[in-house]
Amino acid sequence: MPEPAITVLDGYLALSRAAADVAAGILAAIPRARVVVATGRTPMGLYRELAARASRGVLDASGITVYQLDEYVGIPTDDWRSLLGWAVRSFVEPLGIPLGSVIPVPADGDPAACAAYDREVERSGGYDLAILGIGTNGHVGFNEPPSDASAPTRRVALSSASRRSNAAYWGGTPHVPREAVTIGIAGLLRSRTILLVASGKSKRGIVRRAVLGPVTPEVPASCLQAAPDLRVLVDRAAWDGSVPT
Ligand code: GLP
Repeated sequence: MPEPAITVLDGYLALSRAAADVAAGILAAIPRARVVVATGRTPMGLYRELAARASRGVLDASGITVYQLDEYVGIPTDDWRSLLGWAVRSFVEPLGIPLGSVIPVPADGDPAACAAYDREVERSGGYDLAILGIGTNGHVGFNEPPSDASAPTRRVALSSASRRSNAAYWGGTPHVPREAVTIGIAGLLRSRTILLVASGKSKRGIVRRAVLGPVTPEVPASCLQAAPDLRVLVDRAAWDGSVPT
């Protein structure tokens, strides 16, 4: 198993720029790349950086296919709180990618649709790049603990930790949906490159466990250690708790 490539950056801006360098390099090499796109706060700086490069004409992402990572069950796609809407606003539109090039997850999590989704991704050779964040409980996408490397795309019950950490978008934990659909870890491991970004003290400890600790379903992100090319970009606050002076 290749060692994950871990890079520690001084601050969020440096993290976002370094992550954009990795992503832009892959998109330049594979103009028709299949890219899994996470939402959440952490990758937003990276997406802004990519959008700035696209508007300067030094990045052309118009040919890529975007795969949505996860979605809440029961949320209409036009609801501003939908994760699809968030991915479109923060990544698809700013990078000039046609909406027709976006592949949502099977929103209601129908097992047959999820299985067909995984088969189609496998048939097409997997993803070229997966851009992922990590939850405070070690989840990736919504692969909540316990999830192992065989976890398929599926409908899941959200942990109370995940509902709490997403409560700000919903006006409080009671309003956060209880279920979601997520690309499974098995599918994510079919990515040529995984770019895992983490920032801030709230991620301290879980990132180290995920990339240096034992592979365990209790820390789903640790299963990414089996990826052929795992690039971990983390800011100092998330790595050792220190913040740049
Ligand atoms: C959410 C998402 C994940 C994301 C994680 C961390 O629950 N489902 O895809 O990586 O939380 O989000 P943030 O970057 O906001 O801490």
